[in-house]
Amino acid sequence: MSDFKSDLVENARAVDEVLDQLLSVDDSPEAGLVEAMRYSALGGGKRVRPFLVVSSARLFNVAESCALRVAAAVEMVHCYSLIHDDLPAMDNDDLRRGQPTCHIKFDEATAILAGDALLTRAFEVLVGEATHSDPKVRCDLVSEMAKSIGVGGMVGGQVLDLMAENKELTIPEITRLQRLKTGMLIGYSCECGAILGKAPLAARQALHAYAHDVGLAFQIVDDLLDVEGDAETVGKSTQKDGAAGKATFVSLLGVERARAQADMLADQASAHLELFKEKADPLRELARFVVNRRA
Ligand code: IPE
Ligand code: IPE
Ligand code: MG
Ligand code: MG
Ligand code: MG
Repeated sequence: MSDFKSDLVENARAVDEVLDQLLSVDDSPEAGLVEAMRYSALGGGKRVRPFLVVSSARLFNVAESCALRVAAAVEMVHCYSLIHDDLPAMDNDDLRRGQPTCHIKFDEATAILAGDALLTRAFEVLVGEATHSDPKVRCDLVSEMAKSIGVGGMVGGQVLDLMAENKELTIPEITRLQRLKTGMLIGYSCECGAILGKAPLAARQALHAYAHDVGLAFQIVDDLLDVEGDAETVGKSTQKDGAAGKATFVSLLGVERARAQADMLADQASAHLELFKEKADPLRELARFVVNRRA
């Protein structure tokens, strides 16, 4: 395994440990819901966003225990978004990370509530004192997260994505959709390192520019995997976007140009990190991984 791959795996293990602690089960009557939350939050995944959180926090020498709590909160939000994205009312998928989706494993009501509870728990974790000693930092973490995943962020992007079924979109329209749907949470994952580390403006701007390009590349590759991948490797049903008549970069540009665009964005992303010199190498490798991945 390359050094980067083993770092990614090691980071996933560390964040899983924190998630395991933060989502503990008791013997209350509602413990079944926590089981559904754990099923979706601890059931694999590449853990790209937690890697971004921890790697960006390391640029500013943030305590690892603080970064890992934020990484766990981001992953909880991501898992909530996947549970809801898979529901019959949305993408109606029954396979996620190689396992039955939450609503198939449990039932629809449980899946909706498990998503709600993961989202809520994430904010509870961000605001907890163990996340950072300075209340202003915790407040910024919460408010930036809220902005990234609400109507002006991920949820707004999901609305546009549903509207993109059987509709022609222009490149600027698709770019905006992807930026909201996927890019904003990826942006937050980088930005929170700077918030935790009280980073200067130039560093924040550099990370912001990196995240913008990585986020877009990430979603283009997700759309490519839907067209080119097989369910066993990707861990989710493929050929779904085309069947739903969904406008994506791939439907608009074709496979080759979409891949070239993702490649270009990954290079451009890394170029924004010059300021951090070799300290940002893990982020550069992540950008490459995002475009070369098979799942
Ligand atoms: C899938 O995200 C959903 C998108 C936003 C494209 P990931 O590809 O990061 O999924 P996991 O976490 O590795 O399963
Ligand atoms: C999901 O996008 C994005 C969010 C959950 C916010 P997709 O619908 O393309 O993700 P997959 O392909 O199901 O993982
Ligand atoms: Mg979707
Ligand atoms: Mg989906
Ligand atoms: Mg997809």
